[in-house]
Parts: sequence; structure tokens; C-alpha cells
Amino acid sequence: MITHQYDVLIVGAGGAGLRAALEIPEGFSCAVLSKVFPTRSHTGAAQGGIGAALGNEEEDSWEWHMFDTVKGSDYLGDQEAIEIMTKDASRAIIELEHMGMPFSRTPEGKIAQRRFGGHTRPEDPSDPDSKHIAVKRSCYSADRTGHVMLHTLYENCIKQKVHFFSEFYVTDLIMSGNVCAGIVAMDIATSEVHIFHAKAVMLATGGYGRVFRITSNAHAGTGDGFSLVYNNGLPLQDMEFVQFHPTGLWKLGILISEAARGEGGILLNNKGERFMERYAPTVKDLAPRDMVSRAILTEIREGRGFKGSDGTYYVHLDVSHLPKEVIDDKLPEITGFARTYLGVEPTKEPIPIQPTAHYAMGGIPTTPDAEVTKDKKNTKVAGLYAAGEAACVSVHGANRLGTNSLLDLIVFGRRGGKAIAEFIKNTDFAPLPADAAERTLSKIDKVMNSKGSEKVGALRTELQEKMMEKVGIFRNESDLKEMTSEIKSLRERYQNIAIDDKGKTFNTDLIEAIELGSLLDTAEPIIYGALVRQESRGAHSREDFPNRDDKNWLKHTLIFKKDGTPKVDYKTVSITRFQPKERKY
Ligand code: FUM
Repeated sequence: MITHQYDVLIVGAGGAGLRAALEIPEGFSCAVLSKVFPTRSHTGAAQGGIGAALGNEEEDSWEWHMFDTVKGSDYLGDQEAIEIMTKDASRAIIELEHMGMPFSRTPEGKIAQRRFGGHTRPEDPSDPDSKHIAVKRSCYSADRTGHVMLHTLYENCIKQKVHFFSEFYVTDLIMSGNVCAGIVAMDIATSEVHIFHAKAVMLATGGYGRVFRITSNAHAGTGDGFSLVYNNGLPLQDMEFVQFHPTGLWKLGILISEAARGEGGILLNNKGERFMERYAPTVKDLAPRDMVSRAILTEIREGRGFKGSDGTYYVHLDVSHLPKEVIDDKLPEITGFARTYLGVEPTKEPIPIQPTAHYAMGGIPTTPDAEVTKDKKNTKVAGLYAAGEAACVSVHGANRLGTNSLLDLIVFGRRGGKAIAEFIKNTDFAPLPADAAERTLSKIDKVMNSKGSEKVGALRTELQEKMMEKVGIFRNESDLKEMTSEIKSLRERYQNIAIDDKGKTFNTDLIEAIELGSLLDTAEPIIYGALVRQESRGAHSREDFPNRDDKNWLKHTLIFKKDGTPKVDYKTVSITRFQPKERKY
């Protein structure tokens, strides 16, 4: 077995991981491991922009951005962390610009900004209590903002000589007592297992959208980081909060950016009504995602959706009234997707859309310096860090606002990188346990040699269908209880999987089998979190508990795996500036 030693290991080459890598000073070794080639990381799929109160197009302030983020989170976001993020946003944008990121521009040459859901300002800026209206806060590069950000960061990492292990799949953490001493990974090209010994490890492994059948997430979004943590006895926080983006391309779930509505697109039902006027009279189509997704599903449930040829339903997103130059200059990718995948011409006809599983608000609990914590007292796990979608710092609480994910990556990726840089200066390598690779080796051996009767693809589809049906936008106790039995049974059946490819070279059967384990590990705390939280807050909507219940539930959930079963604990929410209020738009 090959053993490597690096001061710092970063798992995941999306925005958070790459931004963190740039903070590791000369004289220390740093490697980034990625399951996919770095520029295929899912950050590249982010479209509509990155939020910052630059005020380039309209008056704005970071305090308004902070308030919107707290309100958008349905008051579950930690305000200490939200203040850090929104205050740092403008600096972070300028820094990206100086790194070479090609933002779209206003006619005078400033970074252009557009409207996005839930981002507002007081109509009368001198009166914070005046009606809030949508504000242009999203800095963008057409509708490929994540793509250009990812490439900019990657180029800067290459310039800084960061070492990359591309197509390495991380299969375990190496814990030396309470300290993280490295990771175990498999080289996808050869199926060879490697040990990576490190002083500090950052998990920047992204999300878990593939737990659901309809998702905007790349195929690699299988929740690997959550699984690594969960299987090492560490908690996952607020996993019940799953964001469904309102506008996924019908049947496929491919993201059709909120920027379409930011630029003036509207949602229509089968009666041609602009139905968001009824659900969010002030901001209408630019309400936060949890509200718009629920509104779409309500329209469909009440018979005002369109029935597709396959029996599934959708509503319309109409951009056909927008000037051609807006579509061509600002929305070229998404209108291209509608043409390519559905044969729809968006300049002439509406785009069929449906909500799509998009983002994990919950994840690996961390401090604002990306240090992983292991209990309700926020006790740190030495040497272990997490940032980006895999982490829960928590700036998104129960519902994330669009454009705050790219911001989260950049702000907390950088802070995590700086914290690691300090940590490694005064830390030695923790000893490597002799059996560090044991679990990985036996897992691979079991999958490769199994003669079981279960097929990976079939089990995965069953999980994805059931999660969509019973743990989707609307939830209730009986469905969730059923899912606790389902997940148990799927896990048992997973022990009986067999694969066809017995080779060692690019064995995608083997990779998919391991990924299915991650999906099951991730689905479990989502289901349990959703079952225990007896209220509706943000993206977690319980039909049997339709109201938010601050008295009993203004707290974070922590789910641990103990003796093979999930256990729940709770953690307080940081409330500094804004007391919880009714959330209306
Ligand atoms: O709609 C979008 O462009 C997605 C942005 C986001 O998730 O922040």
C-alpha cells in the first residue's frame, strides 16, 4: 500500500476546497484530492451569482444582506456566522476579481448585479421598517458564475503549485484517538488503496442531491463527506433541511437559474396565472426558494399544473417577454438547456419546470473557522475541518437564499484555510494507527467478491424514488416513519449487493457500490431529522405540524450514529441582532 504524507489534505476541489488551499503558506505541503477532475466539481454548475452588498446598481448594505439571510433561514441560521459572511462579502468579491474572475459588467464597467429570491432592501432606505422590495445584490458572470469561479480558483491553485490527486475517491477518515490523522482513498484508475497521513484534513466534499430522484446535482453528489463523518461517530447537523430549487428542468431536474426570474421571468400555472402573486404579494416570483417550491407543488396538487406525456406534472417559467439581448447576454446557458433537453425555444414559449433537490442546508457542524465540532458544546475535533456545502456553520439555517452558497464557499473556505495554516505551524503528525486502511480494504474486498443478489442501480433508484415521495417538499409522520423502516431494509439489502465488473481499472461498478453506501448513510439522518422535528420551518414542511414552533424547536438537531442506529441531540442557535419574527414576503 502506498502511504503519502502532507501537512494539509483537502478533500474536494470545488470552491471551498480550492479557496482553502490558496491559504496554505509556502513551506508546507498541501494536496487536494478529488473524486472528479477538479474543474468538473459541482461548484461549476452554480449559475446565477454570488451575493454581496456592493451597491453597484442600487443602494445596499451588508446589514440588509444579513437580515435577509437570517429571515430567509427562518431564524435558524447562526447570526454570528451570518454576520461574518455578509460583512466579508464585498471584500471576497473584489478578491475574486483580482484573482482574474471575469464578472459581467455594468455599462460603466462596474461588477454587474441582479435580483435574486429573498434579497431585499427597504423601499425607503432611510426607514428600515418600510416595505422591503427586491434588490440587485447578486454579482454574476452571465449564468455561468460558478463555472468561471471554479476555473479562476483552479488556475490560481496551479500557479501556487498546489498538488492535485484527481479521481481519487476518499473512503475513510483516519482517527488517532480524538485527532484526525489523515484519510484513506482509492485511486479510481487502478482501484489501489492509498493512505494519506496529514496534520490537518479539510472535507469540502459538497452535497448529497443524488439521494433524490430529481436533482440539480452532478452524479458525484453522493454525500461522501457526510458518510465519512457519520461513520466515525461524529454528528451531522440540521440534516432535515433539504433545499428544493423551484426551477429544475421538468423530468431532468437540471438547474434553470433563479436569475431567469431575477431578470424578469415569471411562473405561470395552467390558467396562465402568475400564481406567486398570491403566495408572496410583495416579492412575488422572487420569494425564497422554500416558499416558491411549496407554491409550485400546491398549484400542481390543486389541479393547476400541466400534465406531461409521462404523467408527471410541471408549471411554466416564462422568459419569452424578455428582450433578446437579455436572454443572449445574461441567460445563455439555461435557455440553451431548454432547447437542448426539452426542445423548447424560450424566446417564444415557456419552459416546463418542477422543483429539484438542490442543496444541503445541514451538514458537518463547524465553527466559523471551519473547525469540525462533535457535540452540543461545540467541542472541536483536532485536525479536522469542513467547508462549503458539506459543512453546516450554519449560515443557511432552514432555508438558503440563492447566491449565498458561492459566498459561503469563498468566505469559509478562506477562513478554514487560514485556521489550518495556523494549526499546522504548531502541530506534529499524530501517529497513524496500524489498521488505518482496514475498513476500506474489507469493504472493497466484500463488494468485489460478493455473490449477492442485489443490484446497485436498482437499490439506488428505489432509495431515490422513496426519498422523493416521502421525504420531499411536504412531509408527514406516517411517511417518515415508513421511511425509517425502508432505510433499515435498504441498508440490509445493501449488504447483499454484487457487481459485474471484477476488474481493477476504472471499475465504475465498484465506485457506484461505494457511493450507494454514502447515499444510504446520508439519507438516514435526513429521515430521522425530519421525523423528530415536529414543526414547519424553512424547507422542512410538516403537513401534520404546519406552523413554526420557536418555543420547542428554535434549536439545531445533531444526529449521531451510535451502535449502528441514529441518536439525536440538540444545540442552541446563535441569535445576536435579529429576534425571530413571522416570516412574510
Ligand atoms: O438559481 C441559481 O442560479 C442557483 C444559485 C444558488 O443555488 O445559489
